[in-house]
Amino acid sequence: MTNILCIGAGYVGGSTMPIVASHCPQHRFVIVDINAARIAAWQSDKLPIYEPGLDEIVRQTRGKNLFFSTDVDKHIAEADIIFVSVNTPTKMFGQGAGKAADLQYWEKTARQILENSTTSKIVVEKSTLPVRTGEAMERILNSNGTGLHFDVLSNPEFLAEGTAVRDMENPDRILIGGRETESGQKAVETLVELYANWVPREKIVTTNLWSSELSKLVANAFLAQRISSINSISALCEKTEADVNEVAHAIGLDNRIGKYFLRSGVGFGGSCFKKDILHLVYLCEHYGLPEVAAYWEQVVTMNEYQEMRFVSKMVASMFNTIAGKRIAVFGAAFKANTNDTRESPALEVCRALLEEHAEIIITDPHAMENARYDLGELAKRITFEPDPYVAANGAHAIAVVTEWSQFAQLDYEKIHASMVKPAFLFDGRNLLDHRKLYEVGFNVYPIGRPALTHLLSQ
Ligand code: NAD
Ligand code: UGA
Repeated sequence: MTNILCIGAGYVGGSTMPIVASHCPQHRFVIVDINAARIAAWQSDKLPIYEPGLDEIVRQTRGKNLFFSTDVDKHIAEADIIFVSVNTPTKMFGQGAGKAADLQYWEKTARQILENSTTSKIVVEKSTLPVRTGEAMERILNSNGTGLHFDVLSNPEFLAEGTAVRDMENPDRILIGGRETESGQKAVETLVELYANWVPREKIVTTNLWSSELSKLVANAFLAQRISSINSISALCEKTEADVNEVAHAIGLDNRIGKYFLRSGVGFGGSCFKKDILHLVYLCEHYGLPEVAAYWEQVVTMNEYQEMRFVSKMVASMFNTIAGKRIAVFGAAFKANTNDTRESPALEVCRALLEEHAEIIITDPHAMENARYDLGELAKRITFEPDPYVAANGAHAIAVVTEWSQFAQLDYEKIHASMVKPAFLFDGRNLLDHRKLYEVGFNVYPIGRPALTHLLSQ
């Protein structure tokens, strides 16, 4: 039996470790966090994150070979392998503010591992980190003078929220980076063995430490770049009567381009894309590569443009003023099937609508609590309504900003009847049947497709 510890019971630690535990009943897994409320929630029937399929896996493993605890020190002492999945947000102060990675949580963890270890261990970077962070971790850990040895591995996580269980059960690849020393390679093999309990060997890729760290940032940058690319084209489509859905389909059929991540919308959100690209930008600046930095920064700039373009379109089409107008915002989560609202375009849209003095009522099946928290003081100026029919009642407009399938199943005839006329619908995710909505009486504004409006034809 191996004692495996995960430090950080957030989205990554909390959703990956139960799945690993379910495939490795021969090992003992503990997930620790300094956030006592979070640990209590993982031990309860209402898990702190909404992730389809995860409840069942946690129920099956918890108390058998999976345990949650706040006693970080004790479990560090007992562990053979430690996964570190603490948060690595963008630094908001000092050098590199607004771009660089804030490594304070990560460094505290490294020191805590050192202080509480009485045996040698493998330490695995699961958090997304700037390339060469492993070197700093090695230096801290191996500066102990106690004869203990720590092998540092990089094993970035590629799961997407909302599909975490599926992604972890059947990953495209598992990436493990290690030092090219005898001890480093032995540590890599130990981790390969762990994943080989359910992942086919050919999907387990091993590299040097730096390639693994960098590959994670680059994977996110490439994914986000595709979204910004298609979103930039959506703006051109709106000027030319081309249809971005048709363009995405046509180009995606080319195997060299591929069909994924070409869904144009109100912009990408989530805790990682923006943060990881900015970390990449900062690294490029740090290494004296300003042209490379500028190239990647444009992906984030284009995303902000797309979010604001959506709001500008709302204002312009509603006769250049939305002050005092009631707007029902459908969605708060940054994507469907999650309760996560970090960097959600929905909240950016709400902030911009409030600046225009609109009256906002927001509805979401799972993310209202997090939205309220993330909006902070602004939440006091917003109404939170679980029922979309009530949210739309008396509204001038609906803005669809999260692609929840529930929103596509609503009775829009009933909704239209309850709204102020002319009724507007802005579909920021191209989720709904626009022709049908138009026939019901809505003035419909999709993304990157011609608007269907009764106003223009009059
Ligand atoms: P999160 O904020 O949800 O969770 C991090 C947890 O670490 C928090 O609960 C926090 O209390 C805990 N923590 C911080 N310092 C600690 C310490 N010293 N001891 C114990 N616990 C501590 O973050 P997340 O979304 O799980 O992301 C974690 C890392 O994984 C980040 O680097 C992120 O970029 C990366 N990542 C995230 C995703 C995702 O989908 N969210 C996917 C892949 C990679
Ligand atoms: C993303 C990556 O997909 C994961 O591989 C990675 O592990 C993770 O970031 C991370 O490092 O945190 P996630 O942010 O959870 O996962 O979700 P995505 O499905 O990538 O969606 C991100 C955003 O892009 C969402 O707002 C989504 O609505 C938007 N999106 C996605 C589009 O606008 N169009 C698309 O075609 C796809």
